[in-house]
Amino acid sequence: MSARQAGRSSATAPYRAADAFDLERIRADFPILRQQVHGKPLVYLDNAASSQMPQPVIDRLVHYQSAQHANIHRGVHTLSALATAEYEAARCKLQKFLNAAEAREVIFTSGTTDAINLVMHGYGRKFIRAGDEIILTTLEHHANIVPWQMLAEETGAKIRVVPMMDTGELCLDSYEKLFNARTRIVGVTHVSNALGSINPVKLMIALAHAHGVPVLVDGAQAVPHMPVDVQDLDCDFYAFSGHKLCGPTGIGVLYGKAKWLESMQPFKGGGDMILSVSFERTVYNTIPQKFEAGTPPIAAAIGLGAAVDYLSTIGLAAIARHEHELLQHATERLRALPGVRLVGTARHKAAVLSFVLDGVHPHDVGTLLDQEGIAVRTGHHCAQPVMTRLNLAATVRASFAFYNSHAEVDALVAGVRAVQEVFA
Ligand code: ALA
Repeated sequence: MSARQAGRSSATAPYRAADAFDLERIRADFPILRQQVHGKPLVYLDNAASSQMPQPVIDRLVHYQSAQHANIHRGVHTLSALATAEYEAARCKLQKFLNAAEAREVIFTSGTTDAINLVMHGYGRKFIRAGDEIILTTLEHHANIVPWQMLAEETGAKIRVVPMMDTGELCLDSYEKLFNARTRIVGVTHVSNALGSINPVKLMIALAHAHGVPVLVDGAQAVPHMPVDVQDLDCDFYAFSGHKLCGPTGIGVLYGKAKWLESMQPFKGGGDMILSVSFERTVYNTIPQKFEAGTPPIAAAIGLGAAVDYLSTIGLAAIARHEHELLQHATERLRALPGVRLVGTARHKAAVLSFVLDGVHPHDVGTLLDQEGIAVRTGHHCAQPVMTRLNLAATVRASFAFYNSHAEVDALVAGVRAVQEVFA
């Protein structure tokens, strides 16, 4: 489908592999960035909540729905075979994106939360018993806390928590001391959604493995911002969402080592996850289908495949470099403003900047910034244990993507100064 057919209004062709990091060219790929909010150019700094979709991904979805849609793994007809091939090709793209050893180690889920719940049900309910222990960290999003609490309540297992320093870095000495013969799994976020801290997950995985314990990494805030190689990390499970990765909502990935996925019980039962069914006995399918019951989000998976193609064309290393510059610029400028306190000052951070203003509630900051066209998130960011640890109810969070500019950071700083003037 041509760009014109898909309603593309950008004057430029989409970004190509041969291009240097060209921000204007990249921004032209994102139609949503051209709009105004309250009469001001949109400054979209809520990428940790959900990122925007470039035209090639939108085009791919339109093409799939216009010309390729049918149910998969079921039909002998041409469209079903085509849709199946495209869906499985998307799985292979995700395998390559993560450097997973095999495509069958990539399970499509509805998102990070669904992926973590899959591990809780599939691994946790099979292998975790009363008195067993689960290690989590203070930095976890609620999605990597609540499922494990539900399991603990059901089984009598215990949750042990890795403490955090004021900077937003985990206390690794304490982490090591939490292991014992009853430890069954570690759940750790790669990048904190609330503070941006990048956790030393490779080291944490090696320590867990030294105790014979598998590790689930919540990678929702990492995969959009840095190259991730699951074989290099040696993680047992890695979960993330499509909508933070320039893809659609309703799709996510659970990477799992084949040896674990094969030994786990299914999470959801239904069509496609079976080899045979009778009222006497059901035989489950092999992986990955064992974990993909029912009609999956076919279009969304294909859209996610297109999103990782797009990101790979720019390059995750180039993306990380640009976002690091944005973060440094924003950190320096906001730190210089009297009455602004940065929250989360870990040495290694991804593109998240949380802060509070003296005497102004974060929700008021967010509302006034919105009047300037600036989108940020305010609140506890679904990470209440982080807020409790730092004696805060909420922060303002600006979160950057590779399509953000230094001028947008300057607009944020000007917006914050304007808020301070209102409350002066
Ligand atoms: N987990 C998403 C966030 O951090 C929604 O905003």
